[in-house]
Amino acid sequence: MLDRVSQTRQHVCIPAVPGRTVAQALFEAGFFLGLPLCAGAGVCGQCAVRFLGPAPRPCPEDYVKFPEAELDGGWRLACRHSASQAWELEVPVQPAIPGTASGLVHSCLGLDLGTTRIKWASGIPGRPEKEEAAINPQMAAGSEIMSRLAYAESGLAARERLHQLAVDFVETVIQAVQAKDIAVSGHAAMIALLLNQPTHGLAYAPYHAPWPGGSLVCLRAGLPDVYIPPVLGPFIGADISAGLGHLCWQPDIRYPYILADLGTNGEFVLAVDNTHFWATSVPMGPAIEGVGLLCGSPAGAGVLSHFQLTPHGLHWNNIEPATALSGTGYISLLAILRRIGLVSVDGHVGAPTSPLARKLAVLGESAWGKTVRITDAVWMAERDIEEFLKVKAGVNVAIQALLRAAGLGLSDIAAVYMAGALGEYAETHDLFTLGFLPAAFDTRVQVVGNTSLAGAFRASYDRTLQDWLARLPQHVRLVSLVDQPDFATHYVQAMRFAWHDV
Ligand code: FES
Repeated sequence: MLDRVSQTRQHVCIPAVPGRTVAQALFEAGFFLGLPLCAGAGVCGQCAVRFLGPAPRPCPEDYVKFPEAELDGGWRLACRHSASQAWELEVPVQPAIPGTASGLVHSCLGLDLGTTRIKWASGIPGRPEKEEAAINPQMAAGSEIMSRLAYAESGLAARERLHQLAVDFVETVIQAVQAKDIAVSGHAAMIALLLNQPTHGLAYAPYHAPWPGGSLVCLRAGLPDVYIPPVLGPFIGADISAGLGHLCWQPDIRYPYILADLGTNGEFVLAVDNTHFWATSVPMGPAIEGVGLLCGSPAGAGVLSHFQLTPHGLHWNNIEPATALSGTGYISLLAILRRIGLVSVDGHVGAPTSPLARKLAVLGESAWGKTVRITDAVWMAERDIEEFLKVKAGVNVAIQALLRAAGLGLSDIAAVYMAGALGEYAETHDLFTLGFLPAAFDTRVQVVGNTSLAGAFRASYDRTLQDWLARLPQHVRLVSLVDQPDFATHYVQAMRFAWHDV
């Protein structure tokens, strides 16, 4: 919980905005930019504000987040209350968006517009020299793609606001770096919002991407043109084409391979060779980024991201007092709890049966199911475990759908390249423990980092890569998961911490 007493606060009056929450009205007034909000789930507590004068009746999530004295003082979660009337508020003054003033002059710039975080790499041709990242300033409008799109679809002004935020951000980075050659990759929805294009076909069936990408665009007068790799489909974006471009140029690439790019959206490609690709995607929610979870946070000081089990108990690497768990921290902890039997294969917290488990187990009950306590501030609840079961099920069914479409079996795959937030930081043995990957892939998994960013950086200056990317769409076949026979049944069956063979 934040130390609200010591926070600097600002007095704000918001007008009545029917159909919006107080958090959305504040977002539209310029607040909450760059904060990792769960955007309405009522779990992160980042949207806490104090109502001056009469406050709305506390909701169940307020009772969980605030002690009685703070509730009496008017503290509420802004995302859980309606802005259908005007309110007078005290809002914590937020820190400036970090990381946008690099101070280094570089001619080339690649940006990866993630739903949760924006990352960028700058340098000279052939040599990225600096990588930076910041929370996407659009987060308060929805912490994952579908809620972000729902906000964009709520009116032209809403979409325009998301567009302006994205362009402002990109412009700030371009100017900080003084880049001349620039490429931007990202999910189809992020690219549509960057370019202020219609988002209806991304939000509602029949789905289609509003723009094919693969060309230079002018984002704003006075800025250099920006290259955007091809958008391969409504859910297979420029991030994947950039990633394939990056892999294609690696000297030791092995075919057939699977590229698994796991973030808020999971995108998967099976490449049989350099001209035959099958691609699919599945929404994952922001759990992997540490967002929308009861003790979750993006990586930072005090955020636990890796655990080790020793005969003396659990150990973690942070020296700061523990305040939260990153997405990778959840995976690491979950894998240990699975190995010692404290979490069952179907995601329930159970009674300890071994001496080591008994030593570790500080079990409790909560409104979100049974919990395992790690420190006073850090604990894992069954509700959060379920979020990771959904992610795991998505990975499982996506990989199998691609294999089926290409007519291959698990043993035919020469390499599995793990990219994105999970692929970058998670330990592969934890992914096997939790059944994200089949045992047959044991020696074939390779963590390749942020392929989207690496591809965007290269595409910023490499015209040969841009030519290759221009031909890529004709070689990619899209596989729709929901059109797979018995998709729903297989998805539910895969919601276990064990690989599920169809
Ligand atoms: S609790 Fe309100 S945005 Fe997370």
